[in-house]
Amino acid sequence: MSIPSNLPLRNDLAGEEPYGAPQLDVPVCLNVNENPYAPSEAVIDTILERVRAVAPTLNRYPDREHAELRKALAAYLRKESQVELEPEQIWAANGSNEIMLQVFQAFGGPGRTALGFAPTYSMYPEYARDTFTAWTTVPRNADFTLDVDAAVKAILETRPSIVLITSPNNPTGTPATMEQIEALLAACEKAGVDGAPEGTHPLLVVDEAYIEFRRPGKPSATTLIADHPNLAVSRTMSKAFAYAGARVGYIAANTGVIDSLRIVRMPYHLSAVTQAVALAALDHTDEQLAQVGHLRDTRDALVDWFRQQTYKGQPIQVADTDSNFVFFGVFDDREWIFNELLNRGVLIRDVGPEGWLRVCMGTDEEMEAFKSAFLEVIRLAEQR
Ligand SMILES: Cc1ncc(COP(=O)(O)O)c(C=O)c1O
Repeated sequence: MSIPSNLPLRNDLAGEEPYGAPQLDVPVCLNVNENPYAPSEAVIDTILERVRAVAPTLNRYPDREHAELRKALAAYLRKESQVELEPEQIWAANGSNEIMLQVFQAFGGPGRTALGFAPTYSMYPEYARDTFTAWTTVPRNADFTLDVDAAVKAILETRPSIVLITSPNNPTGTPATMEQIEALLAACEKAGVDGAPEGTHPLLVVDEAYIEFRRPGKPSATTLIADHPNLAVSRTMSKAFAYAGARVGYIAANTGVIDSLRIVRMPYHLSAVTQAVALAALDHTDEQLAQVGHLRDTRDALVDWFRQQTYKGQPIQVADTDSNFVFFGVFDDREWIFNELLNRGVLIRDVGPEGWLRVCMGTDEEMEAFKSAFLEVIRLAEQR
């Protein structure tokens, strides 16, 4: 980083680094929770057809309301989460990162607070910083589940404008139950908001970036939207949907929330090409999600495998996970383990509480490579 001191960078950004996991050219990349399976030839053909169809219109701005995409996303949610939402209750942007920034732009700001549950996704404090929103967290229980009593108390006392539950949580994989979400919703519906007029209540945002990896039969928080005007559920095509490179995220909520986001969005934020590419994948939802069941099995098998391993005479701890990654520890030298895995061509993530590591599910071959490198590295660590 080299920013000359005579540039008028915002004072609070001095010394800050751009956020991002390392992008390294190594054989086994298990660090950013992607789906390892590439789009099929059929999907690629549809992408090309759809992009070909919009190409002659690229002299014009795209549909800034992305109506066709919102309709297709509503159809997807109907199928995936058995929830009936109007296209007007859905809003898309360039990744759920952009959606969440829009949430903070619309509902955060100076004098307001956003509340999350730590450890959690490390981008949240950045959205807060960028929008001059205060960021505060309530610690999760030792097993990374939500501490509902502490959460309710904090909502009532802190009076935040945004409450952010990540379910399944990143980096731990922990799901929130519907009862927990409903308890926090009830607290939000009771609480006031500092920096907002009397009678205002916090917006509860459930970040469901990894929800398609939940255990079969478990509902999505989108099913609560009809009864809760202060609930928004953010989702992404980057994870289970195997479309991280396309940069498409979306949020489902009642129209009041969506209309608030429409105030802060950039004009024409979602390019015609992005809309076309997103629609192409949504033409093939079954194919895009074809490997999700296998990735769930891979995850459960890896959790079982970890639980049979020891490190320095102690069992390896593994957080229960409903996601496509596994959070494991506790290592007194996690950086060393991370680097030794990298030396063997396996990139994972050193994130979250001290001593823990996160690995996301790859192909069967990648998982074998990870497991054999990991065993080699921990045996070496024990001899150090
Ligand atoms: C919990 C969570 N939310 C949101 C995102 C952002 O995803 P995207 O911007 O690719 O939709 C991520 C990415 O890792 C995440 O882990």
